[in-house]
Amino acid sequence: MFRRPWLLVVVLLGVGAVIGAAAIIASTVSNRLTGSEAFCSTSCHTMKMQAQNPAYGNSPHRANAFGVLAGCSDCHIPTNNWFIETYTHVTSGIRDVIAEMTGGFSDPAVWAKRRIELRQEVLADMRRQKSVTCRKCHEAAAIQPPSEAGRQSHALLLAGQATCVDCHLNTFHGQIAPSASLRRLPASPIGRRDGHEQASTR
Ligand code: HEC
Ligand code: HEC
Ligand code: HEC
Repeated sequence: MFRRPWLLVVVLLGVGAVIGAAAIIASTVSNRLTGSEAFCSTSCHTMKMQAQNPAYGNSPHRANAFGVLAGCSDCHIPTNNWFIETYTHVTSGIRDVIAEMTGGFSDPAVWAKRRIELRQEVLADMRRQKSVTCRKCHEAAAIQPPSEAGRQSHALLLAGQATCVDCHLNTFHGQIAPSASLRRLPASPIGRRDGHEQASTR
């Protein structure tokens, strides 16, 4: 039927390229939309609670003199790799929807308990990713901690012996009640900034 079979190949390749490009554009657009502050903070009850928590609103990442507003996805969704970004959106999106429907999080006691586990999960993810989302805004080598403890700690950072959330944690959404699961966090070498030492000796 096709007198010029190569033409068919060219047509098929063309169609494939168009479909592929459309899929990439669609997923990029949906990554943008579902990663927006407005989407995250209104899409469900639990995220709304996170967004409206004064400890978050008053934290240096939301209330600073420079007017820089770090948003949910800035810290929670790595964007260095399109596949990982899309994968994170899809998997954590599905997980969040199921949790929202089945979790019973409108009960404050249930949420308080779940939040402790979630905090551990988030921190474990960030450690595994070497705090890649923090590095979107913070260039490790350019940070100049004002204190000696800070400079010593950051020498460990630059030597690859610790990552941001090993030391900077529990300051983004406020402290949550000291608990056994929080105490299991590996102690960072120097200068934990979460007040955790006090909490665990109580
Ligand atoms: C969207 C950009 C952005 C992202 C993403 C971001 N930061 Fe920041 N961060 C800032 C800005 C801007 C300030 C300065 C705020 C100020 O000084 O008032 C800041 C301040 C800080 C400070 C000093 C204030 C404090 O809390 O003691 C630390 C520490 C910090 N960031 C760590 C982190 C870590 C860890 C992450 C990843 C979980 C992160 N940042 C992600 C923009 C960002
Ligand atoms: C080993 C622990 C450790 C690691 C890892 C670490 N920090 Fe720090 N950081 C500190 C300490 C301690 C200070 C000094 C705090 C002070 O003096 O109040 C500091 C200071 C800072 C400051 C200046 C804050 C201010 O108030 O002036 C910023 C910003 C910051 N760190 C961001 C980061 C980011 C982003 C990463 C990852 C790329 C990171 N840190 C990794 C322990 C650490
Ligand atoms: C500046 C970075 C940053 C921003 C912005 C941010 N988070 Fe977080 N988030 C973290 C870190 C780091 C943790 C781990 C707990 C900690 O250290 O405070 C966390 C923990 C969480 C948790 C686990 C429960 C808890 O309270 O620890 C949830 C859920 C969460 N974030 C959702 C959100 C949502 C929704 C938004 C936007 C409304 C948001 N985050 C904005 C950095 C951020």
